[in-house]
Amino acid sequence: MELCTLEKRKQFIYASKKIYFNKPVEVTKATGCRVWDVEENEYLDAIGGIVTISVGHNHPRIKKVIQGLLDSDHPQHVSSLFLSPFMPEAGRLLSKHFKGDSRVYFVNSGSEANEVACMTAREFTGKKMIISLRHGYHGGTNATLNLCGHGTWKYQHQPHSDVGQIEAPYCYRCPFGKKPDSCSLECADDLDKFIQTCTSGDVAAVIVEPIQGVGGFITPPLSYYKKVYEIIKDHGGLYISDEVQTGVGRLGKNFFGAFGPG
Ligand SMILES: Cc1ncc(COP(=O)(O)O)c(C=O)c1O
Repeated sequence: MELCTLEKRKQFIYASKKIYFNKPVEVTKATGCRVWDVEENEYLDAIGGIVTISVGHNHPRIKKVIQGLLDSDHPQHVSSLFLSPFMPEAGRLLSKHFKGDSRVYFVNSGSEANEVACMTAREFTGKKMIISLRHGYHGGTNATLNLCGHGTWKYQHQPHSDVGQIEAPYCYRCPFGKKPDSCSLECADDLDKFIQTCTSGDVAAVIVEPIQGVGGFITPPLSYYKKVYEIIKDHGGLYISDEVQTGVGRLGKNFFGAFGPG
């Protein structure tokens, strides 16, 4: 007897891909912000897949390009050893959103992007320590889980690398018991204090989400980023902005969330 999708998922897929619902919705059709399940019930997709379908499901312009490529028998995979017009062109389009002489490195996931960012910072500065924030999330690979500031994502046997964590700019539940309108950005000063008291002073980078997504959409005041940026620069480290949830126009006017929305 043929197994249903839920049974196949349980039998053949690694257990860490947890199923959170007794009867998960099986989505079979999607257009724009609407999706349909196997029984043809219609839903409003309020989170765009999982914050990834920024232009809506099956956008007609994207469909047209994909269909055109399939019809033209364009190769479906070309090693980066050879030339293909798409990667350099995507790099050119993205570089419009950066200042100065920029280069783009394409990766498969947010975790990989942060792995590359940390390796680059360590290579560039010649230092090892990366500082992340409590409530921060940067991915599910080894280095990025080290950066993670959520106990629920930590494994018992997770090896530790040179990572330290500072307090988050969490105004709603301020770790310093302050109010946003009368605080002195004690959370940003925590970076300076941490570097001075808990490290040799040699820091490669601080990694910050412009808005902490997995942490519960924690939105720091604008002045927070600027202060953190200045502190890490003063100590010779780099500022890594994890734009996995905030980048590519998802905060509105600006293409990236670094230094605040809008
Ligand atoms: C801020 C942030 N960084 C990194 C990641 C990891 O991205 P991925 O799941 O594509 O590896 C996530 C995923 O939710 C994220 O929210």
